[in-house]
Amino acid sequence: MKVSVTSLPLNELDVDVVAIPLTAEATQTTLGHLADGMGEGFRRALDDFDGSKDRLLMVYPDKARTKRFLLVGLGDEAKVDAEALRRCAAKVAAEAKTLKADTVAFTMPDLKLDADTMAQALVEGFMLASYRFLRYKSDGDGGFKGTERIVLHAEKQEKAGRRGGERGRDVAEAVLTARDLVNRSPNEKTATMLGKEFERMGKKHGFEVAIWDKAVIEEEKMGGLLAVNLGSTEPPAFAVLEYTPENPVNERPVILVGKGVTFDTGGLSLKPTPDSMDHMKADMSGAAAVAGTFEAIARLKLPLHVIGLIPMTDNRPGENAYVPGDVITMHSGKTVEVLNTDAEGRLILADALSYAKTFKPELVIDIATLTGAQVIALGSDVGAAMTNQTDAAWRDRLDAIERAGERSGDLVHRLPTYDFYARQLDTEVADMKNIGGREAGTITAAKFLEAFTDYPWLHLDIAGPAFLSKAKPYRPAGGTGFGVRLIVEFLREYASPKKTKK
Ligand code: BES
Ligand code: MN
Ligand code: ZN
Repeated sequence: MKVSVTSLPLNELDVDVVAIPLTAEATQTTLGHLADGMGEGFRRALDDFDGSKDRLLMVYPDKARTKRFLLVGLGDEAKVDAEALRRCAAKVAAEAKTLKADTVAFTMPDLKLDADTMAQALVEGFMLASYRFLRYKSDGDGGFKGTERIVLHAEKQEKAGRRGGERGRDVAEAVLTARDLVNRSPNEKTATMLGKEFERMGKKHGFEVAIWDKAVIEEEKMGGLLAVNLGSTEPPAFAVLEYTPENPVNERPVILVGKGVTFDTGGLSLKPTPDSMDHMKADMSGAAAVAGTFEAIARLKLPLHVIGLIPMTDNRPGENAYVPGDVITMHSGKTVEVLNTDAEGRLILADALSYAKTFKPELVIDIATLTGAQVIALGSDVGAAMTNQTDAAWRDRLDAIERAGERSGDLVHRLPTYDFYARQLDTEVADMKNIGGREAGTITAAKFLEAFTDYPWLHLDIAGPAFLSKAKPYRPAGGTGFGVRLIVEFLREYASPKKTKK
């Protein structure tokens, strides 16, 4: 989608529809001004429109080049934040689709938010809501190719409007890439195929991608990844992404690790189908979020040196599959007693986290659809954030990721990681087992991973928000691309603390 900025008088704009977001407070005066410039229709609209939240009204003025103006109510000014603007833009996107509008303009609402933030939110909301996954639809989307251009009417704030609008476009494009990967059919995203896709992305957007095949994974002794892969007829793969800007602000790299289980049957601890195995093509959502984040930071030219590590395999009960009771030796040298083959994500992630030590990273963030318990704890709007408490900065990390969640709309909330939780992983047979008891399953999974870290670390469990059975505002059913906006926003603040802190 193209984004442009204009300060032409509104009556001279030539688009299919101009959307005018209005707070309750601004409605009367704004419609008065619009009436003075473009005709009494706007003043008459006051009978039916008061700017209350979610009200929509179309006005057809007689003295404007554009035919339709869509008034969108934002409600009380004090309650309007970036998320409200995304949702407002999502409503406009639904109308644009009905109208088959090729070009849509937005006026910038009268708010205390800066023009940069508003422009980003409007573009993101519009693009994320316009998304359709049509790869397997023979007839496309009813003939409509989708809106081609968003015009931001930014008047005196052209520069900030352009900056925010372009950032919104870059970030939204990256989220849509992640959604496409998650929505793709499992038979078209084996570990090898996903690796090829990451290589294509790297070439297109400007980051390095190396794909390790099974032989390299064996040389590296990634016993967790290899064990999960045993039941598959497809070889595993391990992707190493690297984004190196010209003037990075960090000395040691930041590392992103994504769970790339291309399909999770549960293995021999087989999952039931309804509402369980039937969602498991999305078990590479962490991998998609990491790849999408690389796309975004490369598009944005973020001044941070970032490395991505993505272990990939499917988890199947083939004849050679690993079994409950198997003891495996991990990349780190630790031994693990596998008591449930469906707790596979932590096994492949542990090898990546252990390999990450070789870079002496400043910070590692992993992102994974790791536990059903996360969905039970926080639902499908909010991910779980956890950290190791090996340094003094752990609370700051949790604060920073929660703040990034609130700014970006990809919400996360912390869970505790007290050391006693790790006792659930004790076993007589090996160094640890791969499952805890029934209690606090999201936390015991995190404690398992923590045993493979020796650096500042954030763990994001996104089992709930990664994939939706039912649409939410600007998130159609299916893959959501959750995590891209969150991590990009986190890294933006990380790269320039003063600029974005609230
Ligand atoms: N991929 C699943 C977690 C999941 C569940 C993601 C629901 C999205 C929605 C993971 O591999 C898994 O199976 N976890 C098990 C762990 C258990 C065996 C300790 C779970 O949560 O049931
Ligand atoms: Mn599983
Ligand atoms: Zn899984």
